[in-house]
Amino acid sequence: MHIVITGGAGFIGHHATWRALERGWKVSVLDNFSTGKLENLLLPSGNIPGGLTVYECDIAEGPLPDIPNVDYLLHLAAPVSVEESLNNPDKYWKGICHASQRMLTWANERSCQSVVAASTAAIYGDTEDIPMKETNTPDPLSPYAEYKLEMEEMLDGYHSSTMQCAALRFFNVFGEGQPNDVGYVSAIPIFKKQYESYKPITVTGDGLQTRDFVYVEDVVEACFTALVRPNGGFEAMPIFNVGTGEEVRVLDIAEAFGGEIIHIDPREEQRRALADISLITQVLDWRPQTKVLQWIKEDKNA
Ligand SMILES: NC(=O)c1ccc[n+]([C@@H]2O[C@H](COP(=O)([O-])OP(=O)(O)OC[C@H]3O[C@@H](n4cnc5c(N)ncnc54)[C@H](O)[C@@H]3O)[C@@H](O)[C@H]2O)c1
Repeated sequence: MHIVITGGAGFIGHHATWRALERGWKVSVLDNFSTGKLENLLLPSGNIPGGLTVYECDIAEGPLPDIPNVDYLLHLAAPVSVEESLNNPDKYWKGICHASQRMLTWANERSCQSVVAASTAAIYGDTEDIPMKETNTPDPLSPYAEYKLEMEEMLDGYHSSTMQCAALRFFNVFGEGQPNDVGYVSAIPIFKKQYESYKPITVTGDGLQTRDFVYVEDVVEACFTALVRPNGGFEAMPIFNVGTGEEVRVLDIAEAFGGEIIHIDPREEQRRALADISLITQVLDWRPQTKVLQWIKEDKNA
């Protein structure tokens, strides 16, 4: 099998790349290294592993590589900051809508069997309709979320019996190699960096806001399960939440690291996020394996 991974040098992408290589798949990564790093894809020797080809390219403009025999496309590349998208919506339209359109056309021309693209829980907005179900009415509050919703519609337009597409709405992904400096910087890598440098942990507001934190390796497994379609395919394009179905307070995350906690000004942000994962568990038989508080405890002691 040959899988193309856009954004394969990024946080989620490099986990996906290594897992795909472990499965014995041939992997082609398309990345412009705007937030991703080539080092994520290198062996300790500094070489690129066998079976992997890395193409440095911008999927939103310029020529795309002419790669033949593509079986799967895992489309992860996108600019990822909600805040930045409010100030620079054009960058997000180009990086999400235009780039996805180009990749879907490219995949279709190559008779790709199956496409999975990364959508986001941000499309639900600050809803009180909790837990968030795929059938909830979306309420995107930023260009980032709005354009991801447009991307889902685009995928639906390309979905067919020959090129199956699926949109996976990731909740808050955490895990090894999560950046604390570029792109979307989540609470966990910020707290980890503060904890490791003996600084107080800065919790925004009262810290009682909640998130559904899902482990990166579980997310990759969900992507692969959707790509290989265990049930042979779907008539209508599926959309799946990828979360844990458990709500964790940001304050509990900070306390799990330990040390001094200080509260800083609240931000305008979602108060609660919680995925309903009954659809993905029923249809794909996927279940998250790693819990965030346990992971922090083990990571601290590693
Ligand atoms: N991390 C999360 O919690 C989370 C939550 C919801 C959705 N997502 C989605 O998952 C995907 C991956 O996110 P991530 O956290 O790994 O972010 P990331 O920034 O680490 O990865 C994105 C990768 O895409 C590359 N990229 C960006 N624009 C590109 C372009 N035009 N051409 C080529 N490469 C490009 C970057 O260099 C990077 O390697 C994104 O689509 C994001 O919207 C992530």
